[in-house]
Amino acid sequence: MTFDASARTVIERCEILGSYSEEPDRLTRRFASKAMQQVNEKVKTWMYAAGMTVEQDNIGNLIGRFEASHVGAKTLLLGSHLDTVRDAGKYDGPLGVMIALACVERLHARQVRLPFAIEVLAFADEEGLRYNNAYLGSKFMTGTLDPNVLHLTDIESITMAEAIRSFGGNPDPESLHIARWRSDALLGYCEVHIEQGPVLEARNLPVGVVTAISGQNRLNVSFSGEAGHAGTVPMSLRHDALCAAAEFVLSVETLAHSIPGVVATIGQVSVQPGASNVIPGIVTLSLDVRHQENKVRELVKDRLEEMAREICDKREVLLEWQLLQEHKTIPCALALTKLLEQAIEELNYPLLSLPSGAGHDGVTFSELTSIAMLFVRCRGGISHNPAESITVEDVDVALQVLEQFMLLLSTKNDLNE
Ligand code: GLV
Ligand code: MN
Ligand code: MN
Repeated sequence: MTFDASARTVIERCEILGSYSEEPDRLTRRFASKAMQQVNEKVKTWMYAAGMTVEQDNIGNLIGRFEASHVGAKTLLLGSHLDTVRDAGKYDGPLGVMIALACVERLHARQVRLPFAIEVLAFADEEGLRYNNAYLGSKFMTGTLDPNVLHLTDIESITMAEAIRSFGGNPDPESLHIARWRSDALLGYCEVHIEQGPVLEARNLPVGVVTAISGQNRLNVSFSGEAGHAGTVPMSLRHDALCAAAEFVLSVETLAHSIPGVVATIGQVSVQPGASNVIPGIVTLSLDVRHQENKVRELVKDRLEEMAREICDKREVLLEWQLLQEHKTIPCALALTKLLEQAIEELNYPLLSLPSGAGHDGVTFSELTSIAMLFVRCRGGISHNPAESITVEDVDVALQVLEQFMLLLSTKNDLNE
C-alpha cells in the first residue's frame, strides 16, 4: 500500500467518523453518547481488520493491540481522542487515531511485527465537553481519575457514573486507581494531532515536533445578583449579575492582552432566569486560562480572581470562584522527541519544533511514561471549528514520519531493559 493510498484512507475515515453526531446539523460528540458508541463500533471493525485485538474499557475507551514479534516485549502507545467539542471539525482527535491505525494496518499488510507491541488508543473523552473536565479517557487508563468526578452532572443532570453505566461501562470507584500498564512495560506514548494553530502553515511545513504542552486552568465563575422586573427597578437600584459578568469578561481580555503569551477564554455563559423582561439574577461563566510558564498562568489566574472580587464588591454582587482543573505545562520527553526529529530529517523534511497551546492526553500520560507529539499542518490554523481542514499530502508525510519513528525505535537496543 502506498503512503498516498493510506493517507486517503485516513482522510476518508475521518470524514466517516465526522458523520456521527448528536446534533443533526453540526458535529458534536460528547462522552458516552450514542454518537460515541457508533464511532467506537466503526473504529473497532477497522482495528480488527488491521490485525489487532480490540477491547473497550470500563468507561468507553478503545484499545487496539498489535502484538510484537516476541512474547514479553514492551508496548508503544499511539492514539488520540474520538470525542469532539460542540460544532467541531473532523480532525481534532480522530486524525491521530486514524494515522496510528493506518500505521498498524501497513505493518499488518506487509506481515511485519516490530520488537514491541503497539496499542492504538482511542479516548472516549479528551475535550471535557460533557462534564467540563478534560482528559477523562486518559486519566481513567492511567489510574489517575479522581473518583469525585463520577458525581459531576451534565446539562441534563445525568451524573458521570450514570452516563458510564448507560454506555455499558462500570464506574467502580475502586478500579479508578488501577493503571492499565506498569511504566516499565511501556516505551512511551506518541500522538499525532493537527496543529490547531497557524505556525506550520506560515512556515510552509507539513509537520512539526512538539516541545511541550501548555498548562491550563479551567474554572467556573458565578455572579449572583438580584433578579427583578425589567420595567420597574431603577438602574441605580439594580444588582444585575450579567453586567458584573460582562465587566469581568472585558477585564479578562484586557489582562490577557497585556501579558505576552497569555490566552484566556470565556466560552460558556449561562444567564438565569433568562427572560428578556427579567434582570439577570445569576450568571455563570466558564474560564480557561493558559500560558507556557506555570508561574505566569498562576499569577494571571490569581489576579483575575482579585479583579472579579473588586467588580462584585463594587456592584454588590456575590462571587463564586470554582477551580475545576489545573494542569501544569508538560515538556515532551527528550529521547522520543529526538527520534521523531531524526525521522523527519531522514525523510528530508525541514525540522520545526513548536509548543502546543492546546491540551492533549500526553499531559496525563506523562505521569506514566515518556511522551512525544507530532503536529500536522491544518488550513488557516483553524480548529474547534467545522472549517478544520488538512491535505492528503500532509497526512502522507505524517504517516511516513510515524512509520520511520517506529522503525528507528525498533533499532534501539535498550528496548527490553
Ligand atoms: C483541547 O482541545 C483543549 O486544548 O482544550
Ligand atoms: Mn480539541
Ligand atoms: Mn484534540
